[in-house]
Amino acid sequence: MFKDGLLKGKRILVTGGGTGLGRVMAEEYLKLGAEIYICGRRGAVLEEAAGEMMAAHGGKVTARACDIRNAGAVEELVQSIFDEGPLDGLVNNAAGNFISRTEDLSPRGFDAIASIAFHGTFYMTHAVGKRWIAAGRKGSIISILTTWVWNGSPYVVPSAMSKTGVKAMTDSLAAEWGHYGIRINAICPGPFPTKGAWDRLNPESTNEGMEEDRFATNPMGRVGDMAELANLATFLMADGCEYLTGQTIAIDGAMYQATGGNFYNLHTWTDEMWEAARNAIRGANEKDKAARTV
Ligand code: HXC
Ligand code: NAP
Repeated sequence: MFKDGLLKGKRILVTGGGTGLGRVMAEEYLKLGAEIYICGRRGAVLEEAAGEMMAAHGGKVTARACDIRNAGAVEELVQSIFDEGPLDGLVNNAAGNFISRTEDLSPRGFDAIASIAFHGTFYMTHAVGKRWIAAGRKGSIISILTTWVWNGSPYVVPSAMSKTGVKAMTDSLAAEWGHYGIRINAICPGPFPTKGAWDRLNPESTNEGMEEDRFATNPMGRVGDMAELANLATFLMADGCEYLTGQTIAIDGAMYQATGGNFYNLHTWTDEMWEAARNAIRGANEKDKAARTV
């Protein structure tokens, strides 16, 4: 879809860029000539992803372990990147989520999600944006949200609240920072199967065959293709549409319009099903936690 070298000379940070959608977007930017930074809490996962991307496409991907829930750690990371040279783009992709009946959540359960998706996203945006403003540089920010920013979602309330808050940040900062040449947009993907999301949002089924069950109601009869997301993320990041800012764009095959695109269908679950889901999600969380280096 894009000409070679479209992003040449750009330096872009993708949070959560070692896995899932973040990795897909980081890899596309790299292929198109950008220099990439990726961050996350699992150092080895990041290093492996960076190595694989560079082996496949050349170029430069720097992996930096950072927990974006920690504002001090975010400041340190962003300063260390700017010490090497200014960024041109930021993708706020890192998030946490799991399905749960809201009455079963503890305050820590709420914070576990909001501290990443809401607070962490602000810390990152603020750390990068204020450096652009101080240096008189323009830049482009993309946040990865969900269609629940328009209609909420039962059973993922902390995520729906956090993503909606980030939409408010997108709307607000597009206006506040527009005169600095800073653009800020958001993408709401529909279902794009990834291990991180499916372990926590679709835990009752195996990872095989998941496209066929829950999302068979999608008007396009399928889940998203990663290349489609990468193309949209490139279009929004590249020069050439600077007047496009403050927009939140769904890429979901019209699932949101057709079905609400959320987790209302879980209202039929029994206590036993919720218990099984909770145990499966905890198993996935513990495994990932063991690999964290920050
Ligand atoms: C209820 C739960 C729970 C569950 C954890 N908790 N799992 N509560 N039901 N299934 C509670 C714990 O009991 C604990 O509270 C609190 O949450 C914190 O748990 P930790 O295991 O210590 O969490 P933490 O190490 O902070 O990890 C954060 C996380 C984890 C969000 C829980 O899942 C994570 O790191 N996720 C990152 C990757 C991820 O989530 N990717 C999916 C993104 S998909 P107590 O009170 O017991 O101490 C997405 C949308 C996709 O965002 C949309 C698709 C259509
Ligand atoms: P994923 O692979 O689990 O991605 C989440 C990433 O965020 C991981 O790389 C994770 O790395 C990182 N992360 C989490 N907490 C972090 C923290 N505190 N500090 C730094 N990094 C952190 O899942 P995904 O499906 O690709 O999700 C990516 C984004 O897309 C999320 O914003 C999600 O809400 C959104 N989304 C996904 C879908 C979908 O269908 N997949 C649909 C709509 C929206 P570590 O665990 O190593 O920290």
